[in-house]
Amino acid sequence: MSRLIALLPGDGVGPEIVAAARVVLAAVADTFGHDFEFREGLIGGGAIDATGQPLPAETTALCQASAGVLLGAVGGPQWSDPSAPVRPEQGLLALRRALGVFANLRPVMTLPALYGASPLKESLLDGVDILFVRELTGGIYFGAKQRDADRASDLCSYTREEIERVLRLAFETARARRGVVTSVDKANVLETSRLWREIATRLGREEFPDVKLEHALVDAVAMQLLQDPRRFDVVVTENMFGDILTDEASVLAGSIGMLPSASLAASGPGLYEPIHGSAPDIAGRGIANPCGTILSAAMLLRHSLGLEAEARAVEQATYEALGRGIGTVDVVGRERGSPTRAVGAAIAAAISEGPARAIA
Ligand code: IPM
Ligand code: MN
Repeated sequence: MSRLIALLPGDGVGPEIVAAARVVLAAVADTFGHDFEFREGLIGGGAIDATGQPLPAETTALCQASAGVLLGAVGGPQWSDPSAPVRPEQGLLALRRALGVFANLRPVMTLPALYGASPLKESLLDGVDILFVRELTGGIYFGAKQRDADRASDLCSYTREEIERVLRLAFETARARRGVVTSVDKANVLETSRLWREIATRLGREEFPDVKLEHALVDAVAMQLLQDPRRFDVVVTENMFGDILTDEASVLAGSIGMLPSASLAASGPGLYEPIHGSAPDIAGRGIANPCGTILSAAMLLRHSLGLEAEARAVEQATYEALGRGIGTVDVVGRERGSPTRAVGAAIAAAISEGPARAIA
């Protein structure tokens, strides 16, 4: 059975990291005997240049017809003029909305091989394993925007249904982990947060009494993430808090280039992307870290294709390569850094030579 995977390389380092992940997915197909069909689409700045639109209708249709979408990154200085009528980021937001991917899973783990890449103490990093669940299609990102010469506003609005569905997913996920949910808000100031907290409390009591629920304010969580990161299991929060906290949490993992994400809808294809941006400063140099994208591809295998063993093989191969010191400059240092392509090839080779092949 052929399974269609939509590839949206996007801007900046996007094409380089998606190419590396494609090589890894091809190794999975070959090793495990699957038939993946890859089709590429335009999104972001490149799409604006080619069509005038950051998300051409053709791309939306491709994504909707696929089993899952793997995206690189969007944006860059050439499209950042504040007076420009359209921006690359609008393409990504529109795609998230079109696919209805309300839950953005962002796992943050620390690997001993990467402790040295983090500015934080090893004693703090040991055993960190957090799953962020970021609400992705509501809040201030999507509320009404207004602008005139001397005044601007962005509305942060949430409905009960939007809050409930992402919280439910967080609770369910916690059941399969260590059973603790930290619900992050700013309930001492924001109405949306007070509604969020009320719903979390009720849902926890009525549907998930076996899961431990704690509420925490976002500013305190920003501090505790660097002070005592092991205390967190599942952290669930609204769109913008989740955006900010996960960039912060990437410092634990050693590099923002390491972190993958899966954005899931109630049904239909998921969207998979590294959490980092298009990194225009290093684009085209072949040195971008492909691991966040490769680990996102693993999440695509798991969540959209139901291929758990294959997902694990990709994750294991990635950790193994890093364990052997094969990584890009951001994680292994300038002296030992390998090119993007070499890291992808090493991970693909580890999959082809791995235990799956021996069993097959
Ligand atoms: C992310 C990114 C995006 C976001 C941008 C590019 C719109 O920062 O995926 O975290 O803010 O959601
Ligand atoms: Mn972000």
